[in-house]
Amino acid sequence: MSKLTGSPAWHALAAHQNKIAAADLTALFAADPSRAEAFTIEAGGILLDYSKHRVDAETMRLLAALAAQAQLPRWIERMFAGEPINASEARPALHVALRGREATFPAGSDVMSEVRGTRERMRRFVGEARSGALRGAGGRAITDVVNIGIGGSDLGPRMLTRALRKFHKPGLRLHFVSNIDPADLDAAVAGLEPETTLFIVASKTFTTAETLENAGRAKAWLAAALGSADLSRHFAAATANVAGAAALGVPQERVFPLWDWVGGRYSVWSAVGLPVALAVGMDAFEELLDGACAMDAHFRTAPIERNLPAVLALLEIWYANFFGAQTRAVIPYSEDLRDLPAYLQQLEMESNGKRVDRDGNEIDYDTAPVVWGASGTPSQHSFHQLLHQGTRLVPVDFIIAREPNPSPAQTALAANALAQAAALAFGNPTPGAPHKALPGNRPSSVLLLARLAPRELGELVAMYEHKVFVEGVVWNLNSFDQWGVEHGKLLARTLAPRLLGGGDAASLDSSTRALLARMRKRD
Ligand code: F6P
Repeated sequence: MSKLTGSPAWHALAAHQNKIAAADLTALFAADPSRAEAFTIEAGGILLDYSKHRVDAETMRLLAALAAQAQLPRWIERMFAGEPINASEARPALHVALRGREATFPAGSDVMSEVRGTRERMRRFVGEARSGALRGAGGRAITDVVNIGIGGSDLGPRMLTRALRKFHKPGLRLHFVSNIDPADLDAAVAGLEPETTLFIVASKTFTTAETLENAGRAKAWLAAALGSADLSRHFAAATANVAGAAALGVPQERVFPLWDWVGGRYSVWSAVGLPVALAVGMDAFEELLDGACAMDAHFRTAPIERNLPAVLALLEIWYANFFGAQTRAVIPYSEDLRDLPAYLQQLEMESNGKRVDRDGNEIDYDTAPVVWGASGTPSQHSFHQLLHQGTRLVPVDFIIAREPNPSPAQTALAANALAQAAALAFGNPTPGAPHKALPGNRPSSVLLLARLAPRELGELVAMYEHKVFVEGVVWNLNSFDQWGVEHGKLLARTLAPRLLGGGDAASLDSSTRALLARMRKRD
């Protein structure tokens, strides 16, 4: 038995689960007229209503005790103090510095001067690009920017650029390429003019196969049109490997650094966020940082039971570990937030999809659930059937952004989100027609954003980052490494030559060998 599952706080929750499993959300609401108010937390521009979760005041007290037992406040301070909490890579996890406003931070190993310096360079670059002063080799102003990156070097900037669509300034169009499948780059550059296109190569390591391949193809696409012109004018980079970017021919003044203390999936606040800044301007990008910074302050100071990221994490733990929930759905009722589930998949599953604890011991409890989702209302016509009447328990995050002057369609959108949350919670008994009955008692959070704007988005993303951190603390995981993805990369590197007919296939498993043979066969 692990320390966690043998602990008093865990046992207390397991015992309490029997009581809650027998309770019904309809009855819990009937018993407490102040339930909605009591189970609502507000931080900045985000309101979390978690009243439609299968919890009561005792559950929340016991969950907070679990977090306290894991020494959550101490871990939060360790992160903010820049201690090397990413132990397997002997690094701190200091993404909070990227949105920090302190003069120096953290104490003893200041990173703020570099952070500020890079922000200033980004501001100048964005200003140049936005004013038309950024010109390609032929002297024409850049009109299209293609971000080449993958994982954290793609999902964050892609998600936020889309989410902030209404804040885009005219003049520059943003495009995103991540897949090594050439179809991705081909589709992105179709219709673009090489003379007016800039590629940002975003890669923390600058060794990622997909990104280097796409950067090489982008260069070839430019060369085919621009011949011997100075192609370096069509590239910028965001990386911790400045030499790698130089080797690709990116001019030094266009290489924006990040640092080994920023995890890829936590890097959108750094120069990896350059596409966002180019789309909305540097002032709006700084508002995004300010929102994240405000959430950092809330996370650091609010008591566990009123702490938004902590409460969300504890609810996840409640279902994953005490109800056996295998997945959580994220359903933004906002087309502009359509890419949020994909972003959260990396953030949550790459951080906490782990099976050994910080000390290398195999654990005996479940960790990160599968995160999935899509935007509502299209999701209602796809998978909500399972949410309402299927056999699995799937907690849901409904995300709604308030509109100051909603159109009828926007009103209908918000009404649908609230309707889905209510239908899941309270069901719909239909005597004599079991196929029509909705059992209800299915949990969901409603996250209401004051508006879909840079500051609120910064708060939202930082909230999820800290939620992941709290889960990692309770589950005793290092949330900041991702060793599980390395082996597959290595295998792909050894299989590629074999697909072309080289190398020795005898050592391969029989399935892979047969598939290779089949794929090599020319019809
Ligand atoms: O393979 C996983 C990963 O290392 C992610 O953690 C990271 O976000 C992605 O690859 C891209 O890495 P890089 O920014 O170094 O190209």
